[in-house]
Amino acid sequence: MSNEDVSQDRRKFLTGTMVVVGGIGAAGAAVPFIKMWEPSAKAKAAGAPVEVVVDKLEPGQMLQVEWRGQPVWIVNRTKTMLDGLPQVRERLQDPDSENEDQQPEYANNEYRSVKPEMLVLVGICTHLGCSPKFIPEMTAQPFDSDWKGGFFCPCHNSRFDLAGRVFSGVPAPANLKVPPHTYLDSSRLLIGVNPEGAA
Ligand code: FES
Repeated sequence: MSNEDVSQDRRKFLTGTMVVVGGIGAAGAAVPFIKMWEPSAKAKAAGAPVEVVVDKLEPGQMLQVEWRGQPVWIVNRTKTMLDGLPQVRERLQDPDSENEDQQPEYANNEYRSVKPEMLVLVGICTHLGCSPKFIPEMTAQPFDSDWKGGFFCPCHNSRFDLAGRVFSGVPAPANLKVPPHTYLDSSRLLIGVNPEGAA
């Protein structure tokens, strides 16, 4: 499967599944992706870092996990998605991530990520705290005729691009937050911890 040949149904299934798993994981539901995320109940209660295996995440897909009671999104962006980021730049409030509170220094770059393809975001709207919807299709939407993929918060119509950067003229005042995170190896991501030597 090429990066751009991602099944819409498959993508939606994974996203939906992980949302459900996040809510019922403690009950031990038997779903394939639960192995990606199983902090102990004690660790979860303490807000411990969450280890996530990301190598089964196909291009175009999003995985949702929970860290410190918040949804954290991991999106494996295709090359087409990455190439679309400069195209919305003129429509953004903070295209260069000048608000330093919204990402660690190591994610202050054109992709807002450690690895260009792998986006990690706290899935909480910076307006009043709803959780936006992932709308990766790079086609016209009812709320935006020139949509290039991203996140839409229907609570008050805030929009964010596929790097979590907020559009101008919406209620949300800042880009979506990038949480501290580091890669343990090529497939394992640890959310809640900065890379060694990073602030
Ligand atoms: S909470 Fe997202 S737009 Fe208001």
